[in-house]
Amino acid sequence: MSIAIVTESTSETMREVHVGIIGCGGIANGKHLPSLHKLPNVKIVAFCDLIKERAQKAKEEYGTEDALVCTDYHTLLQQGDIEVVHVLTPNCAHAELSIAALKAGKHVMCEKPMASSYAEAKAMVEAAKESGKFLTIGYQTRSQVTHQYVRHMIERGDLGEIYYIKAPALRRRGVPLWGVFLDKEKQGGGPMIDIGTHSIDAALALIHNYDVESVSGSVYRKLADTAMNSNEWGIWKPEEFQVEDSAMGWVKFKNGATMVVETAWAINFDGEANMTLCGTKGGAEFRGDIVHLNGEKDGSLYTCDIKPNSTARDLFHGENLKCEEYEAKQWIYSIVHQIPPITKPEEACVVSHIIEAIYESAKTGKTIYF
Ligand SMILES: NC(=O)c1ccc[n+]([C@@H]2O[C@H](COP(=O)([O-])OP(=O)(O)OC[C@H]3O[C@@H](n4cnc5c(N)ncnc54)[C@H](O)[C@@H]3O)[C@@H](O)[C@H]2O)c1
Repeated sequence: MSIAIVTESTSETMREVHVGIIGCGGIANGKHLPSLHKLPNVKIVAFCDLIKERAQKAKEEYGTEDALVCTDYHTLLQQGDIEVVHVLTPNCAHAELSIAALKAGKHVMCEKPMASSYAEAKAMVEAAKESGKFLTIGYQTRSQVTHQYVRHMIERGDLGEIYYIKAPALRRRGVPLWGVFLDKEKQGGGPMIDIGTHSIDAALALIHNYDVESVSGSVYRKLADTAMNSNEWGIWKPEEFQVEDSAMGWVKFKNGATMVVETAWAINFDGEANMTLCGTKGGAEFRGDIVHLNGEKDGSLYTCDIKPNSTARDLFHGENLKCEEYEAKQWIYSIVHQIPPITKPEEACVVSHIIEAIYESAKTGKTIYF
């Protein structure tokens, strides 16, 4: 496996790219709009949301003066100058909107998870292939400096053969209470599909292994009904809590490696939920902006902490970009220069397959073979 490392001068100018936004809620305002707005060659020329006021507000803050505001995504897709569409709606609409945008000849950035089911994710991969346009998924963890640093270490063979990965996404109390996150039909599940999707994607991208042999999982609803029903985002109502509150998965790869996935929005756990990778030559653990390494040299064990800087990234060295800013900049760069985006649809599709298999295994009590 080899991933080209491209360096680029920050002074390079890129041609203008027109972007349309579908879904102007939390992630649009918290991640995409501020990051796109900082790119001098990007013009955000259309805003669509079922709630018109949200589209209007986003336009006023981030849009061009004559930007379109609408509530029907078909109207946005008809606008010929839009080259790129960001799909930022609840999970249930990802496939429909992304496929429609690809068919309309747009490049698509869709938020994570790729879709609420594996079948929908596969349909998105097919649509991207047929359209010849780029489709990427908003897994911004891959844009972290630490993630790219460790990926390069693994590519060089510094950690040897990676055979065990712990991929946690555990919140002691962190149930998202805005939007429709507790709605099974609209989201497809709870913490496993919401935040487990990030840790699974991040792990697979690090080891660059998409050859899964089998998956088993457990799904719990242990705290959703209890009196401990509050967190930093407010108070949840048990009767609206239609999804799991924690879920665990056990993934075996064809090469014999094992990955444990732990996810929770609410669990009685008070530790550090850090991703860990164990290889034959060394191990790496993510601790915030630090990579904690452990190995053996000349018969003695050692540990060391490394705080990587922007030169660890594939692109934009010397720029102090937040991961969502790097993701947006790399995305637009990939369109202008016709190089693949960081996250390929085929990879995100495997993440959706694993998540569905964890849910299926929990329901049937069986191991799911791929
Ligand atoms: N990358 C991350 O770390 C991250 C974090 C949070 C959310 N997300 C993802 O972003 C997506 C949206 O989450 P959110 O927190 O922004 O939710 P939200 O409810 O705050 O915003 C979603 C918006 O989409 C609009 N919408 C729904 N269906 C639509 C349609 N058919 N056409 C136009 N607009 C439509 C809603 O009216 C709403 O304003 C989810 O898939 C979620 O998983 C990703």
